Amino acid sequence: MEERAAKKPAKKTTKKPAKKTEKIMEKKDKPLTIGVLTSGGDAPGMNACIRAVVRVGIARGCKMVGIKRGYAGLLAEEFIDMDVTTVCETIQKGGTILQTARCPEFLTEEGQEHGARICKKHGLDALIVIGGDGSFRGAQQLSRRGINVVGIPGTIDLDIPCTEYSIGFDTAINTAMSAIDKIRDTSSSHERCSIIEVMGRNAGYIALYCGIANGAEDILLPEFYDGNEQAIINNIISNRKRGKTHHIIVNAEGIGHSNQLAKTIEAATGIETRATILGYLQRGGNPTCTDRVHASTMGALAVDVLVAGKKNKIIAYRSGQYVDLDIEEALKMKKDISEYQYEVSRMLSL
Ligand code: ADP
Ligand code: F6P
Repeated sequence: MEERAAKKPAKKTTKKPAKKTEKIMEKKDKPLTIGVLTSGGDAPGMNACIRAVVRVGIARGCKMVGIKRGYAGLLAEEFIDMDVTTVCETIQKGGTILQTARCPEFLTEEGQEHGARICKKHGLDALIVIGGDGSFRGAQQLSRRGINVVGIPGTIDLDIPCTEYSIGFDTAINTAMSAIDKIRDTSSSHERCSIIEVMGRNAGYIALYCGIANGAEDILLPEFYDGNEQAIINNIISNRKRGKTHHIIVNAEGIGHSNQLAKTIEAATGIETRATILGYLQRGGNPTCTDRVHASTMGALAVDVLVAGKKNKIIAYRSGQYVDLDIEEALKMKKDISEYQYEVSRMLSL
């Protein structure tokens, strides 16, 4: 973890400083004005993160400004002053009190330039962006236009390469796991095959975790699935012969086609097969303790990084440490889903 320097208190002096020095002091002592927004898909724990950003910012003497509806709200200049009371009663709540949005206009150079102009117009010394990889790319564009940005990973998908944790993942997998347990009860009672499709965009992290935690017979991950439906059918038939009363398939959103797969399986095996697409319920609900703690720590560190004078950073969780990474370096990183955990899931499903 990079060293964090505490903000030094201003030296007391009895002498009247020269005019030029006075100006420098004024600039140096002017409290930082920090904006914060949430962008992309909401994730449980974003509120805990906003709360930490605002409260630590105020504790460090900064002026805190909330921007509503992500980059859409930035372009529309939806700025609100934040104080300690604006974030009361939020740590336990899902969603985001600042609201969020996808903003196609921000994918354009004109949109990004407009965004940078608005940050300058409102006197922002820095902007904290809580969101996923796409939101970080937007922040990177702002940084290239002279805006000091800090990104905090917030997405249930866990698909940001530079970090091993992103806010919302733990809540989402626990929500999905509970839902799949319930489906298993009824699936088993009716001796059916059940396909449960979980979110994750193009990444299979939610599917992998739930597949292991729910003891799924098959897990279909975009990273590994070869499209061999016959292999799934053969697995169902051999499990049925061995006396299994249900067959749970956790399918990742990145593969999709769950309803079509259910029809194919039923036609080939004669076993009633149902597909359930868990959908948006995975993004809602009260954040787990893990999410609240990660969100609070990352939010606090984002502010402290700015107070220490650092520029253009992504807060990440790596090897058990909270770190700040250079945004350009961070967005070049790659990560792979664990092949070993996938193998484990296959062995455990026997
Ligand atoms: P997430 O942040 O969860 O990955 P998105 O990919 O939808 O979600 O990104 C959120 C928003 O960030 C987009 O609607 C867009 O405004 C902005 N964004 C995404 N990708 C880029 C990019 N390559 N350049 C600039 N802005 C981007
Ligand atoms: O990134 C979070 C996520 O929930 C993905 O898992 C999913 O693919 C996507 O957002 C859905 O986005 P939207 O809310 O725009 O339908």
